[in-house]
Amino acid sequence: MAFPENFITELVERSDIVDVVSGYVRLSKRSGSNLFGLCPFHSEKTPSFSVSPDKQIYHCFGCGKGGGVINFIMEIENLSFPEAVELLARRAGMPLPEQTDRVQDRKRERMLSLNKEAARFFYEQLAAPSGQPGRDYLLRRQIGRRTAVNFGIGFAPDSWDSLKTAMGAKGFSDFELLDAGLVRRGKNGGFYDTFRNRLMFPVIDVRGNVIGFSGRILGDGEPKYMNSPETLVFNKSRNLFALNLAKKSKSGYIILSEGNIDVVSLHQAGFDSAVASLGTSLTPEQARLLSRYTSQVIIAYDNDGAGLKASQRAIGILEKLDLRVKVLRMTGAKDPDEFIKNKGPEAFRKLLEESENQIDYRLRAVTDKYDLSRDEEKVEFLREATDLVAKLPGPVERQVYALRVSALAGVSGDVVSAEVERRRKKLLNRALKSDEREQSRPERQLQPTERELRYADPASAAAEEGLVRLLYLEPALGKTEDLPQAEEFSSPALGRIYAAIRGKIDRDAAVSTAALAEELSQSEMSLLVSLLQKPELLSLGEKTLRDYIRKIRDQKELASGSVDLRALAGKLRERKGYEG
Ligand code: UTP
Ligand code: MN
Repeated sequence: MAFPENFITELVERSDIVDVVSGYVRLSKRSGSNLFGLCPFHSEKTPSFSVSPDKQIYHCFGCGKGGGVINFIMEIENLSFPEAVELLARRAGMPLPEQTDRVQDRKRERMLSLNKEAARFFYEQLAAPSGQPGRDYLLRRQIGRRTAVNFGIGFAPDSWDSLKTAMGAKGFSDFELLDAGLVRRGKNGGFYDTFRNRLMFPVIDVRGNVIGFSGRILGDGEPKYMNSPETLVFNKSRNLFALNLAKKSKSGYIILSEGNIDVVSLHQAGFDSAVASLGTSLTPEQARLLSRYTSQVIIAYDNDGAGLKASQRAIGILEKLDLRVKVLRMTGAKDPDEFIKNKGPEAFRKLLEESENQIDYRLRAVTDKYDLSRDEEKVEFLREATDLVAKLPGPVERQVYALRVSALAGVSGDVVSAEVERRRKKLLNRALKSDEREQSRPERQLQPTERELRYADPASAAAEEGLVRLLYLEPALGKTEDLPQAEEFSSPALGRIYAAIRGKIDRDAAVSTAALAEELSQSEMSLLVSLLQKPELLSLGEKTLRDYIRKIRDQKELASGSVDLRALAGKLRERKGYEG
């Protein structure tokens, strides 16, 4: 769904960000023109959430969240872009326009029908004689025919152009396939199939659209999975694998696991509410999506260090949305797939039943450690238990568990509550201090707050940031010849932001947070806003632009190792003018 650009422009003009944010956050003036308040997106004691009336953006220096007025509403009300626009339009008393951006709509429809055709093709290939390797692999992984059909699993033949040819015959152009990520462009300018000799999992959204693919290699090898890139219809951070099936489950909870194979195996064993995030750690957008379908999530991540860390992170994200969260405690298997194969579905069901709420689990562990009939041990118990409770994010939760601790220890609830709050203050202070230390480390400052967006090549990323900032502030520069392709960027996130901005400029559309809100994910938007905070010398426009471009390309050569390092060093010395 798309709104006409001038409608969005007017809507944003009539929705002053200070007014809108003030409905949720108490803002006060500090220095300069910015207003500050306590960030509504993470818990904090001193205000690091800023709103700029001039730029009409918000930005939190603590958690890194940021965007324009539409993002703010999307984030705080858990709404999609069109829903947020509707809310703001109602607030501003503007009637909603007819949906007129037909071109974009049609492109999206075409891509969805192409994806559906491609899924059908892969599906048929699995049954065809040439699909034998795929069928063998399913057999090896003990995935039965019914399950494969349920998931629409398919097989991409070991060929450079079988999908391309089949889709061509159905009237799809190479460029449409390219946009959908189904083919890639070779060195000679030709196109070749992205997915070859892989078991294909279609990714289907809650409306039943095939939005992308995840292809597993048969057996060992790298990369294990290939996924569709972000496209007009595919946004990894906003979708979950198998939610289209899990949303129909009657189980009352959703099982969140890591791997596609785990999900398939769980469904096959009768746990029809399993989903997986698409190769990333759980994002707030995915959590929000989950919260539409369930109030309870059971985390069943891999049984290793990474899985444990990812669980802790997911707990934090899910609890923010008031979802009840439990964690499965698996032993003797590395993941749900292996567990079910080794011990059977019944054993897994038992795990589900025994899975505990995190806090109950830890509180019980502390209680078991001490003999509460002895005063000295009781003191130790209180120290440890209040410490645990103090770390809980919600005030109501802290209250509830403070009472439980008081009951266990046989001391008054007020005493325990007071102790909890005292400890909490201490914890917050400590966190704040270490946060400030982090912020003042220069190499940290260049890194985005979100881990998934970490820069692999900070030197190139600095120039990429500069280029993005320059184009955003001075769109006319977007018509400069020989601008880099987004693919030349070292940071995929910056590349996507850059591509989105250039897309607007190419279509002579406005470049603003509102105009980009639909296209960029929340974390990309936050990254954009945070890099807009850094100063840019506009007067140097064109020259600065050139420097950035050169820097990006030099770094790329350096990284690829395809260059004589001494010669490059010489070149760089000559251009001392630019300091990346
Ligand atoms: P796993 O490596 O655990 O895969 O990655 P798996 O699906 O459980 O497969 P098996 O059981 O080892 O065969 C978990 C998820 O991370 C993403 C995929 O979505 C995968 O399901 N992933 C993994 C990638 O996107 N790319 C990779 O190269 C590897
Ligand atoms: Mn796995």
